[in-house]
Amino acid sequence: MKNGYDHFMLKEIHEQDKVIKNTIGYYFDGTIESLIKNLPDLTKYNKIDIVACGSAYHTGLVGKSLIEKFADTEVNCEVASEYRYKRSFYDKKTLVILVSQSGETADTLAALRKAKEDGIDTLAIVNVVGSSIAREAKYVLYIKAGCEIAVATTKAYTAQLAIFSLIAIYLSYKKNLLTNKDLLEIVKEINNLPDIINKTLENNDYIDIAKKIYKRDDIFFIGRGIDYALSMEGSLKLKEISYINSMAYAAGELKHGTISLIENGTPVIAISTDNNLREKTISNIKEVKARDAYTLFVTNEYIDSDFYDDIIVVDKIHELLQPIITIIPLQLLSYEVAKLNGCDIDKPRNLAKSVTVE
Ligand code: M6R
Repeated sequence: MKNGYDHFMLKEIHEQDKVIKNTIGYYFDGTIESLIKNLPDLTKYNKIDIVACGSAYHTGLVGKSLIEKFADTEVNCEVASEYRYKRSFYDKKTLVILVSQSGETADTLAALRKAKEDGIDTLAIVNVVGSSIAREAKYVLYIKAGCEIAVATTKAYTAQLAIFSLIAIYLSYKKNLLTNKDLLEIVKEINNLPDIINKTLENNDYIDIAKKIYKRDDIFFIGRGIDYALSMEGSLKLKEISYINSMAYAAGELKHGTISLIENGTPVIAISTDNNLREKTISNIKEVKARDAYTLFVTNEYIDSDFYDDIIVVDKIHELLQPIITIIPLQLLSYEVAKLNGCDIDKPRNLAKSVTVE
């Protein structure tokens, strides 16, 4: 049932407050003991390979950033269709994490089987209970997102992000990189998360922004670090449901070619939530603004300036949780753009919810 929403996608976007509460609450009661009890012993691995497709791959990229930064652990993240055929440099201390909403994606399943054949431990982060990937992996962490109908994933994506946040918290604590004081602060933020998600969902400014960009042929997303990973998801969401050509670039790469595509009014959506990289990203936005791009600045810190045409400010929360909030305006903006274009939002052309063929 759509429960009064025009589309399942919109309904699922609006379920994210409850989903995140469920996902986190299932594994974490605020104590590190609960994580130790509910997660497998991840401390025995010194390297992690994250393998997935599409949006699940994008959550892996966010997971890589979080685990590398907070848990000081090397993480490789690759799309399953490449990983399954290439030489792997893993060893007995490598954990291969497979991420999949459906648990049936052919390439991800093949990557799982390859790792198993090589005797490598596998952990599945999956939504559908009893699915092939969940059954065949050594360990499974269900994301508890509930049934997702819309082809474009939203609530499963953020639930996967939440699992990666928990893995980073767990590893960071076990490696003595996170103190009890840090943990208390994170727990406080986790408790506030559903309200912050709600507040982010209530913002309606996205319709006005969508009206400015929905007729364009090309839309670019840029960001650095974790914001680049979020840009990739924002871009995929937009293109899969609105059929507008969209690409995500590491902001610093633009000047190496892509900037030649910027012309009067080309939309460039820049994501910037990482304080350490903000000035660098702003200088890249200025480069496209100087070439008359329309710029939308998505940030967690308001800046009064003329380098952007529009600004979306999300709440600033702990870095481990920030991506869950930052992606929401991008989901809603894609939805509004697709709606203005009269697209079949829940069932975009040429796409299936579960890709069970290679
Ligand atoms: O079921 P999975 O998570 O394994 O699916 C992977 C991709 O096919 C999926 O994320 C796809 O990219 C979505 N349509 C994105 O919204």
